[in-house]
Amino acid sequence: MQEGLDMDEALADSEAFDALEGADRGFARAIASSTLRTIGRIDGALAGFLDRPISKIDPPVLALLRIGAGQLWVMDAPAYAVVSATVDAARQWKPASRGGGLVNAILRRADRERDAFTALPTSRIWPDWLADRLSAVLGPEGVESLAQLQSEDPNTDITVKSNAADWAEKMSAELLANESIRLPTGTSITDLEGYVEGEWWVQDAGAALPARLLDKASGGLKGKRVADLCAAPGGKTMQLCAIGADVTALDTSPGRLAIVEENLGRTQMSAKLISADAIEWRPETPFDAILLDAPCSALGTLRRHPEGAWRRTAKGLSRYPAIQTKLLEAAADMVNPGGVVVYCVCTPLPEEGVDVITAALETDDWSALPINADEVPGFEHALTPEGWLLTAPPADRQSPHIVSDLFFIARLKRN
Ligand SMILES: C[S@@+](CC[C@H](N)C(=O)[O-])C[C@H]1O[C@@H](n2cnc3c(N)ncnc32)[C@H](O)[C@@H]1O
Repeated sequence: MQEGLDMDEALADSEAFDALEGADRGFARAIASSTLRTIGRIDGALAGFLDRPISKIDPPVLALLRIGAGQLWVMDAPAYAVVSATVDAARQWKPASRGGGLVNAILRRADRERDAFTALPTSRIWPDWLADRLSAVLGPEGVESLAQLQSEDPNTDITVKSNAADWAEKMSAELLANESIRLPTGTSITDLEGYVEGEWWVQDAGAALPARLLDKASGGLKGKRVADLCAAPGGKTMQLCAIGADVTALDTSPGRLAIVEENLGRTQMSAKLISADAIEWRPETPFDAILLDAPCSALGTLRRHPEGAWRRTAKGLSRYPAIQTKLLEAAADMVNPGGVVVYCVCTPLPEEGVDVITAALETDDWSALPINADEVPGFEHALTPEGWLLTAPPADRQSPHIVSDLFFIARLKRN
């Protein structure tokens, strides 16, 4: 985080992590991700135990305090093991070797005084400006539910090409009401049946909705010319291909488009791949339907990329609505009259979601195609009064409602 890397990049760069195998490797990754997901709340609680501001603690020592506290407070690991292993790490790791005494004292106190962590609002996991921003949108309860979701280990869902019920049974996994499959925690993806054969791909249950909603409103996409305008890494492209559409997948990033190609190769499907800016690019013949998964602040997927909360700034977020509006205008240029466009972003901020759609509907280009409850089994709770979806965590986590990453999804018809 201090070096501006995301967690996966940092782990990939680490020789120490590279040397780990099997359960040790999994545990090291779990420590890093649990700590990062809740780091603001951990720091808030640690601050009360320290005699100087957190910024004055030597970064290597602070890193050990954070991962020690993360294991105690978030992972609920046995205190004796956490304290001795972390103090040992301080002794063995030269940059932190002078901090062993402090690590020992603070982690013992962290074990005795767990209230220091639990008494803080869950939304302390984020920087204050972000918690305030989300709270203004979701309200005090909504923001705590989202923070709770983003504090937890994310589930792994997959989308299969077909026969979801059979695959769920074969994998002893849960078939969700929307036909996504939720894998048991700790499943090794690449060892699962059908991975090598490309019968399925990892895709959050919420992320699987836009392509299905496009299919449902277009009288079936099979054989139709469909564009996926911001395609990489290709989860939705693969869904459109599996439906049997004639797919053109666009992305500005050639590197990310190469991942779409790799994914299509594994799943033995094909699409026309174009590396271009969708705001500028135009097809020779308009498309029958378009999926627009626009670049966004991605605040709804922070449980998968928790370091993102600390890399974003209020100013950085303000650039998205103009880009999203231009992309939707470009989609209007590229789709046939009567053609359907599904717009989605993975953020709850209205300026990137409902406001973009409301403004589009004020032009002559679009009519609304509201989403019906029977099109989104398991996500009925997420329907907004306008007929869009906002897949914020349901208030009742025991309910049959599906808990997923947070997406805003709207559907429009070109006039
Ligand atoms: C949210 S991701 C898309 C995820 C993808 N649809 C999926 O389901 O796997 C947004 C993508 O939009 C691409 N992008 C951003 N601006 C773009 C533009 N102006 N034209 C085309 N692609 C763009 C980014 O490179 C990024 O890969």
